[in-house]
Amino acid sequence: MALGGGRLVGKDTGMIAGVVRETYPGERRVALVPAAVVPLGKSGLEVLIEAGAGIEAGYPDDTYRERGARIAADRAEVFARADVIVAVRGLGANPAAGREDLDRMKAGQIVVGMLDPLWRPEACRELAEQGVAAFSLELMPRITRAQSMDVLSSMATISGYKAVLLAAEALPRMFPMLMTAAGTVTPARVFVVGAGVAGLQAIATARRLGAVVHGYDVRPAVREQVESLGGKFVELPLETAQAEGTGGYAKAMDEAFYRRQREMMAKVVAESDVVITTAAVPGKKSPVLVTAEMVRGMGPGSVIVDLAAERGGNCELSQPDQTVVEGGVSILGPTNLPATIPYHASQLYSKNVVTFLSHLVKDGQLAFDIEDEISRETLVTRDGQVVNDRVRAALGMESPPSEGRAG
Ligand code: NAI
Repeated sequence: MALGGGRLVGKDTGMIAGVVRETYPGERRVALVPAAVVPLGKSGLEVLIEAGAGIEAGYPDDTYRERGARIAADRAEVFARADVIVAVRGLGANPAAGREDLDRMKAGQIVVGMLDPLWRPEACRELAEQGVAAFSLELMPRITRAQSMDVLSSMATISGYKAVLLAAEALPRMFPMLMTAAGTVTPARVFVVGAGVAGLQAIATARRLGAVVHGYDVRPAVREQVESLGGKFVELPLETAQAEGTGGYAKAMDEAFYRRQREMMAKVVAESDVVITTAAVPGKKSPVLVTAEMVRGMGPGSVIVDLAAERGGNCELSQPDQTVVEGGVSILGPTNLPATIPYHASQLYSKNVVTFLSHLVKDGQLAFDIEDEISRETLVTRDGQVVNDRVRAALGMESPPSEGRAG
């Protein structure tokens, strides 16, 4: 089944997956690593890479060539020849520089990447106007068969790990307990708020470094997971039975709930050397869980790493990509930690993409099925329209679109 009216889709000779160099400031990942070339070939997808696209992630052009990929001299060639453009950060997730690629796109071309469609839905409108069929990987349904395509999980794993390393670096203490001839060092106390993928990885990493770790999440089901990693689950007498939304995501709670949560967490925060916050609600501003007053209750030298800083932050004082110091407490708000570990972040992202493309393309032909949950939920634009219900809702549009939507 073709996705659009362009000449590229559904041709007989196989398809070309094109990878361009990422242009978001500080982005060092690459969407496909050399190991992707052979498995994509089995699906009938040839790989075409913009020269130098993998270099910052540790994958020089030759490593792609050795696996059978072709290297394009420039970006324009990739856009001109590829049937599928694969990116880490597509337009919504690369709002400024991403716009420069719009004119290079062709009707019928398929675009796959992170597009941040719920936070910046206007970008989807621009992609629709270009006539491309855009798939946003952040919208991957949380079902068992889609686990290997879930970029949010694979990137959150990296963020959780790196958050702990940043905290350890900034903390004027060591993490492990040590008994030395020069005296005993007490272990650092780490509190992780939000025990999803990033939070659980943060708990595991902080434990490996020897810290005493506490974890909290509004979803009571995660208690067992926190404990299995050696963390202690913080019991807060809050009514959380309604907190679990669809697909394992937390629902946005009302402000009264967050106020009670802050009151109950204040003591644990004050007793912690490190607080790592990861509490996100998809497409929404992050709830403030650590107020300025709570920060002032922490000991000097303490560190907060706010992984929700991009969406307003879980800490009232955090600023995206800055370190704010308040009363001797450092508050870090990194927004793109996966880009700081580009080799493995790219490897995991690439594996997610390969699985997704193998789902979409069979024997060099597009095998798109609108009835399939994975294809339907991730497709955001098609035939000049924004077709995804969640994105349409974010744009204030009615669903379904009045015309032009197949399926
Ligand atoms: P996330 O990034 O959306 O949120 C992070 C965590 O913060 C979540 O655990 C959430 O419950 C928690 N949180 C939200 N508000 C909070 C508050 N006020 N206080 C404390 N914690 C709060 O979630 P993430 O990490 O992407 O995954 C959530 C769940 O979904 C996990 O259990 C994961 O295993 C599951 N999942 C399943 C997938 C699949 O089956 N294919 C794929 C990805 C995740």
